[in-house]
This record gives sequence, C-alpha cells and structure tokens, in this order.
Amino acid sequence: MAEAHDAVEVIVAKRDGGALSDSQIDWVVDAYTRGAVADEQMSALAMAILLNGMSRHETARWTAAMIASGERMDFSGLSRPTADKHSTGGVGDKITLPLAPLVASYGVAVPQLSGRGLGHTGGTLDKLESIPGWRAALTNDEMLAQLEGIGAVICAAGSGLAPADKKLYALRDVTGTVEAIPLIASSIMSKKIAEGTGSLVLDVKVGSGAFMKDLGQARELARTMVDLGTDAGVHTVALLTEMAVPLGLTAGNALEVRESVEVLSGGGPADVVELTVALAGEMLAATGRDDVDPSEHLASGAAMDVWRRMITAQGGDPDAPLPTARESHVVNAPSSGVLVELDAMAVGLAAWRLGAGRARAGDPVQAGAGVEWHARPGDVVAVDQPLLTLHTDEPDRFERALEALDGGYRIAPVGTPYTPDPLVRDRIS
Ligand code: URA
Repeated sequence: MAEAHDAVEVIVAKRDGGALSDSQIDWVVDAYTRGAVADEQMSALAMAILLNGMSRHETARWTAAMIASGERMDFSGLSRPTADKHSTGGVGDKITLPLAPLVASYGVAVPQLSGRGLGHTGGTLDKLESIPGWRAALTNDEMLAQLEGIGAVICAAGSGLAPADKKLYALRDVTGTVEAIPLIASSIMSKKIAEGTGSLVLDVKVGSGAFMKDLGQARELARTMVDLGTDAGVHTVALLTEMAVPLGLTAGNALEVRESVEVLSGGGPADVVELTVALAGEMLAATGRDDVDPSEHLASGAAMDVWRRMITAQGGDPDAPLPTARESHVVNAPSSGVLVELDAMAVGLAAWRLGAGRARAGDPVQAGAGVEWHARPGDVVAVDQPLLTLHTDEPDRFERALEALDGGYRIAPVGTPYTPDPLVRDRIS
C-alpha cells in the first residue's frame, strides 16, 4: 500500500514545476484507479504534467505504477521467443495484419493485443471484424495456445492490463491532455510491459496524419518509450516513419483487409510491403533471427499460411468474400499533371466520416466504408481519370467526406519534380 498523500499537494507540486516523489506517484495513480482521487483532480494533474513535463525517473515510476494497477501476463512458458509491434497510429496503417503472420512464420510468437479505433485512425480489431465470423475476444488460455501452436494472435487487450491507463486515457481524451509525451509514453509502455513481451518494435508515426506532427517531437516520444522499455528489460527499438501521406491505397476496415491479403499473396502496394518487411526485420533481429530476408515468406506463401490458420483459429473464414459498401462515389482528377500531395489527415477524416471510424467509444463502424485512392504522390494523372473512390452504406455521408478532402490533394503541371520523404525516417535504439 502506497504512503497516503493529499491530491491537492501532488497537483500543486507539479503545477509549481517540481518533481513528484516516488511515493506521490505511487499514491496518486493507485488512488485515482480506486476512485479516491476525483476526475477533476486528475485532470488538473494531467494538465500540469502536460505543461511542466516529467523527468525520465518520474515517467518510469509513473509507468510502473500503471503496470502495478493490474495483471501482468507471462509468456515465459512458450517454446518460442516473443516479439510485439506497436504503432502510434496512422491513416491506412494496416501493417499489423500482414506483419504478425509474417514474423510468426519464422518461429516467433507475436502477441498483438490491439484496440478499436477512435477518431481518424482505424483500429486493428475493427478491420479484422470485417472478416465473417472472426472474433476479437480470447481468454488468456486461448491466446497462449494459439501463440504456441500458430505463433500469431491479434486479439482484444483484456481489461486487466493497466486499468489505470484505461481510466486516465479516457480522461485525457476529454481534457486536452492527450499530447503530453510522458503521458503518451507511459500509457503505451505500461500496456506493452504488462503484456510481457520479450521484445518490442515501435512504429512512431510522424506527419499530418499522426499524433506527432514534427520529427523532433516524434524523436522525443520514441526516445522516451525506448528508454522505458529498455529499463524494464524489454528489448525495444523504434522506427520513425512517414505519415504525411496515407499508407497503401486504402483506408477503411474491409478495404484494408483486402490490401493486406494482397501483401500476403506477394503483391500489394510498395510502401506497405516496405514497411512490413522493415518492421519484420527488426522483430526478427530482436529475437536472434537476423539471418533471414522477411520478404521471402511473403513471396513463398509461408506468411499467408499462418494468416489463414490465425484467422480460422479465431472463428473467421479466410475464404469468405469481404463485405462491400452499398454506395460509392468517384472523384475524378480535376486536371492533368503530377499528384504532388495527398494529405493523410484529409483522407483519414473522410474515411471516418464515411463510417469507417467512430466518434464515441462503443459506436458501431461500417465494414465496407472508406476511401480508395487510385494514384499516389509522384504519379502522373490525366484529367477526369478516377482519383479517389469513396464507399459508404449511407449516401448522405458523401458530402461531409468530400468536404474533408477539399484541399487535401494537389496536382501540379507535368514535369514538376516530386521527391518523396523516405518511409523510414530514423531508427532509435
Ligand atoms: N495510444 C495509447 O495507448 N495511449 C496514448 O496516450 C496515446 C496513444
């Protein structure tokens, strides 16, 4: 039991720019989880942390207190090494879907405890739930059996992992305090450390469609998370990856599953393949397999075999046709030239407004809704050729989606040079 403190004393200490003591942190996280510190008090403390920051030591202690609020999982009984990936969230980011079976195809256990989407970035579980029959909820025993037998599992994180974070994240969401780097880092890492993975690769997105809009902030978040993981004994590496342009050619639940299956079949958009292979390489190297080229198991079908077994084990039918939306609307290119801009935030917002995402936790999502783009920045397009196709079950959603896309793409005269930023912008270990 943590030594008792007074909530106002803890808030004032951080408000005045001081460092919180270990015992203040242990107490406030525990008392908030139990309901002994009120939401308005934790809101004030979160705002003080956003404005005044936390040191490396405070952030590590805060993370440990959040881990201690719930259960810890244990994968040490598995015969395979474990590696996990976490993305800070982006538009068209379906990488977990091909990545988990790809890495598992090399004998690694990949426990992907995932969430549902909120706002303009989609949730991995929402995507997989578009596969007929597939279920996200597994017991711990089912998860362990699947990890041992198949290697890959993508399922809902149980409510027992870091319950302090669940409560605090919901509060930050409605108090303008999501963007504090120590709070984002401790939120993500408390769940990953409690999950018990041996190694972790972080995909920290940077650009208009990401939490972190500039490289400096993204680097600081990555450094903070890598330090937290390393200090907790988890082999942790971060890649900083581009999210000014959406990934691949689709954003939306079933649309992204279809694209992932193309990647697992040895095809798919080049950027999705490149990022999948880069992250797989990091996860395999972290588990001692730096002798392989992960693209081989995309080409050979070995990753696809694991995908089919993983989907089937969770009740899904990998051969069932994926749902499609009832209505579609095509946006044609207004002029000929080079597509020099396709803004990730605009596309994400449009997909969300079409029904692919939710405004409030618990709202339903449409499986078939979303956006397809038929050209990527750098491509030459001809006037009137289809540029984007919007999909939804409810046609009255088109207008607001088109508003989101207004100004979200730009075509420059033929011959205009276009130099893309590299997809992987930095690596932090
Ligand atoms: N994802 C999380 O899990 N927590 C945050 O604070 C931000 C993104």
